[in-house]
Amino acid sequence: MEGGEVTAVDGVRPDDGTRGAAPTPLRVALLGCGVVGSQVARLLREQHDDLAARVGAPLDLVGIAVRDVDVPREGVDPALLTTDAEGLVARADIVVEVIGGLEPARSLLLRAIGCGASVVTANKALLAEDGPTLYAAADAAGVDVYFEAAVAGAIPIVRPVRESLAGDRVRRIVGIVNGTTNYVLDQMATERLDLDAAVAQAQALGYAEADPTADVEGYDAAAKAAILASLAFHMRVPLEDVHREGITAITAEDVTWAASTGHVVKLLAIAERTDDGVSVRVHPALVPTTHPLSGVRGAFNAVFVEAESAGELMFYGRGAGGAPTASAVLGDVVSAARNRVLGGRGPVESSYADLPVLPASAALTRYQVRIDVVDRPGVLAQVAAALADHGVSIEAVRQSLAAGPGDAEVAHLVMTTHSATDAALAATVEAVAGLDAVLAVRSVLRVEGN
Ligand code: NDP
Ligand code: HSE
Repeated sequence: MEGGEVTAVDGVRPDDGTRGAAPTPLRVALLGCGVVGSQVARLLREQHDDLAARVGAPLDLVGIAVRDVDVPREGVDPALLTTDAEGLVARADIVVEVIGGLEPARSLLLRAIGCGASVVTANKALLAEDGPTLYAAADAAGVDVYFEAAVAGAIPIVRPVRESLAGDRVRRIVGIVNGTTNYVLDQMATERLDLDAAVAQAQALGYAEADPTADVEGYDAAAKAAILASLAFHMRVPLEDVHREGITAITAEDVTWAASTGHVVKLLAIAERTDDGVSVRVHPALVPTTHPLSGVRGAFNAVFVEAESAGELMFYGRGAGGAPTASAVLGDVVSAARNRVLGGRGPVESSYADLPVLPASAALTRYQVRIDVVDRPGVLAQVAAALADHGVSIEAVRQSLAAGPGDAEVAHLVMTTHSATDAALAATVEAVAGLDAVLAVRSVLRVEGN
């Protein structure tokens, strides 16, 4: 900041004799002008007067950092474009990072904070990997870090968990937080596509990247789960402590069987607090068609929160896309701007709780196990005994007959268990697979919700 000049960046404004004068504009720097950044730039331009009225000072976009300034960008003043992101962040009051990835996003945000700017980011990968470094730097500088868009795009979920539920005790969060995989699974269920065809369709529609790994292998959802769990349980949940399974093992047959037993397959991010600690995991699961999450179709997201006093809450909407995500980013920009105009800061990291993060093998879940067995007397009893030996209790069994090799009759068993640990279930499945009468274990899927 210029020496002696009194601006909104000073926090609580002293009475410097300028009250009643036009408010000092806040300088906004935008890092990235892709899917999200281009929409942030548009909203800052189109809603300039409304935003000024809401904040109490104009929000002036002073520059947009990109890799290539020669790419034509609709509605963007080319004079704002720069490749000098480092220089740009040093002359802003609020820096919006929508580049993505770890670097240079992290260095640029730390530099912005070091220069006294508040920052807004949509970067779940960076926050899950190294959020505490950003929060500590912001604390030292007395500025804000906002990140509503990092989890579930347009859906307000960071603010509700971080602020609205700050007086409650969150027990559990179950979310569909990746639109691409939800679209893929939905297409498999409704259009009877196999996984590859559904992923190709998601790519054609722009939901999935050319390399869909981050979505289909659950990395994107795991980052969001780590962020939500950290906020909900007031602790740091490192990304490496999130158990992660993607959807690549889900077959068209799994989806068809799910439907026949009154379920849909969803990729879920689950964060739950138990008496022993917290469990944070991402995996596909069967969700009963009676559960609210089962109705989340296409690329939509939804997050189901259970809190001790509030009870059950559900948040639903668009988890991705330029304009929806930009809406969440702009909400954060307004919050950060208001704090600068009025003085004070937004919420800071709350990580006082020192709860252990439990291994996935300790998580208690119901399972649906599908196996092919030889259709002869006593086989069901053998299978049931294998489950009982491992302390896994059967809730329901369904059997159908199919023609096997030669004249053999094959029975297809669909068993739903009561809650068991991952470890117990894994040992059970190994034992079942080893029985002479068992021809194949066709799938093992967790079941969430009653
Ligand atoms: P894009 O790939 O569409 O845009 C990235 C932008 O960053 C581009 O404008 C690119 O410049 C610029 N950029 C890349 N590297 C640099 C660099 N070294 N210096 C300066 N600029 C750089 O990404 P998205 O808009 O899709 O995503 C941005 C962030 O938002 C990510 O963190 C993502 O996870 C998050 N997000 C995205 C959602 C979505 O629906 N897309 C939803 C929720 C969050 P150039 O244009 O010149 O290549
Ligand atoms: N790739 C993400 C999704 C969007 O499919 O939901 C960004 O978080």
